[in-house]
Amino acid sequence: MIIDKRILLVVTGGIAAYKTPELVRQLTKAGARVRVILTKGGAQFVTPMTLEALTQDTVYQDLFSLTDENSMGHIELSRDADLVIVAPATADIMAKMAAGMADDLATTALLATDKPVIIAPAMNVRMWEHPATRDNLKTLISRDITIIGPDEGDMACGEYGMGRMSAPEEIVETAVRFFSASGRLSGKRAIVTSGPTHEAIDPVRYIANHSSGKQGHAIASALAAQGCEVTLVSGPTNQSNPAGVHVVPVRTAREMLAACVASLPADIAVCAAAVADWRVSDEASQKMKKDGKSLAPLELCENPDILKTLGNSGTQRPGLLVGFAAETENIIDNARVKLSTKNCDWVLANDVSSDAGTFGGEHNTIHLVQQDDVEDWPRLTKDAVAEKLASRIADTLEETS
Ligand code: C5P
Repeated sequence: MIIDKRILLVVTGGIAAYKTPELVRQLTKAGARVRVILTKGGAQFVTPMTLEALTQDTVYQDLFSLTDENSMGHIELSRDADLVIVAPATADIMAKMAAGMADDLATTALLATDKPVIIAPAMNVRMWEHPATRDNLKTLISRDITIIGPDEGDMACGEYGMGRMSAPEEIVETAVRFFSASGRLSGKRAIVTSGPTHEAIDPVRYIANHSSGKQGHAIASALAAQGCEVTLVSGPTNQSNPAGVHVVPVRTAREMLAACVASLPADIAVCAAAVADWRVSDEASQKMKKDGKSLAPLELCENPDILKTLGNSGTQRPGLLVGFAAETENIIDNARVKLSTKNCDWVLANDVSSDAGTFGGEHNTIHLVQQDDVEDWPRLTKDAVAEKLASRIADTLEETS
């Protein structure tokens, strides 16, 4: 996540500008506040109205516009951001940046900025390989400008080669990494489990539960936003992969356990997945057919407990192990039992009775249970729970280091 960071996005005139609405959408979703400067060329490929709708802000286009200058002057625009991204960066803007030109709003803002700059070049392969562009690239790199891509592939002009703008996801990931480098958890590794598991009955049926994966995915994002290197082991969910997080998709509890063990050692593990407690002992190899009679009860056997296995993994045990206790009654008492039986450090207990609306909902009310202490958190969105947890984890690791 890039919570509360301000990004100035400069969109210049290449066909890849058509990808910028998606880039804005993803940056905004990651928590950034995005402002756009659209060059004359850029406006040939993407409309200001699209970008205004997505940023909910004015799109700045003209150096000499009184309205633009009144709403935010060009110097202020370049200084107000935490990070500047130029995407797509044409051969022309790279040449102008290298030469220090300032003949329109984009180039003026880029010359005036004192903030880090990332550029995502996009151009025809011959323009990319031209010695002039190579020289400009060297100059920009020598000034600590970060370059993403370009990628190799089919190009809009019909040629094949280096020159395609990197995918919006890659640009967002670079931005996330950029902000996380100074995070409180940088240098730490975390494993987060999320979502339900699916336990097959036969090739088309399975046992599952209502977990949406929202809370686990939000925790993975929040830890990554603090600079942590996060492996998110996720059961089947509809959540999109959080930016800057390594996602290992799994289906069953046994796959989830194997993926977690393979990700050790870790400084932190947060087990937020709603792992199926049982699986069918003898999964049918073919689809089971009805035959007018009742079905004999399925024989179930217990699944491995991932949290407990991590808690008892000796020298490999994560330094800080956090579990969840989804309860419908005696919330705190049940959480305390889990704390000791699973050998974890914290249990985040929450009420999942149907009237609490936790499963699939946007909110969660957490009690952070430790051996001799209970902290009651107010009702928060799942994103806010994740951020609070990531800060608490950072506080604790800082205290013990
Ligand atoms: O025992 P219970 O399922 O209530 O415990 C909940 C906690 O244990 C959660 O943190 C959950 O992710 C974890 N768990 C697990 N593996 C299981 C069952 C639960 O990691 N098989």
